[in-house]
Amino acid sequence: MRLTMCFIILAGLSTAQLTDWERIHQTLHRYAPVIDTKDFAQLDQIFSPNAHLNYTGFLSNVNGLPAIQAGLAQSVTGLRTQHLLGTTIIDIDHGFPTLGGKKANSTTYFQASLFAEAGTNLTTLFGYYVDDLSQGHQGWRIDNRKLVFQGTSVQGNAAPGPPSP
Ligand SMILES: *[C@@H]1O[C@H](CO)[C@@H](O)[C@H](O)[C@H]1NC(C)=O
Ligand SMILES: *[C@@H]1O[C@H](CO)[C@@H](O)[C@H](O)[C@H]1NC(C)=O
Ligand SMILES: *[C@@H]1O[C@H](CO)[C@@H](O)[C@H](O)[C@H]1NC(C)=O
Repeated sequence: MRLTMCFIILAGLSTAQLTDWERIHQTLHRYAPVIDTKDFAQLDQIFSPNAHLNYTGFLSNVNGLPAIQAGLAQSVTGLRTQHLLGTTIIDIDHGFPTLGGKKANSTTYFQASLFAEAGTNLTTLFGYYVDDLSQGHQGWRIDNRKLVFQGTSVQGNAAPGPPSP
């Protein structure tokens, strides 16, 4: 109890808000293993059915979960990947819970390493995701995601490894 009180004072969030924070954090961070294991069906745990996604290139205007699943699958075809998600800031709007559920927005830093076949180059990308989320019957889901790159990508020689799936 004392610990909880301390946490509330430190973070400036109520216990209910902390629970939402953790659930939103789980939704955001589940993205990494889903992409890296190529389990694209599980993207329904992360994006809402009508979600919009703006990354870059052919992924700059993707609308709806099936298109997001297909587009992200295409983007890592033939690659092994590691998405490392770091700094996570979440703002929760508890203003109008009766009008369409709770809303939040977040910024999540990433480093994405793309490993090509053994003996070829490794590419590492740096940036952050800017997300709008809402809480539906299934839980917190991303409604709108935009990717912002930071700096330039880095190329390096990948260590020999098993072939990509
Ligand atoms: C995607 O993001 C880019 C860069 O911020 C922006 O110029 C473009 O208008 C966005 N596209 C859509 C469909 O929102
Ligand atoms: C949420 O959106 C507001 C308004 O655009 C913005 O000022 C704030 O920085 C955002 N919060 C996060 C964590 O991205
Ligand atoms: C890796 O990238 C470097 C620098 O761009 C290049 O010189 C080298 O040929 C590349 N190696 C392979 C195996 O593609």
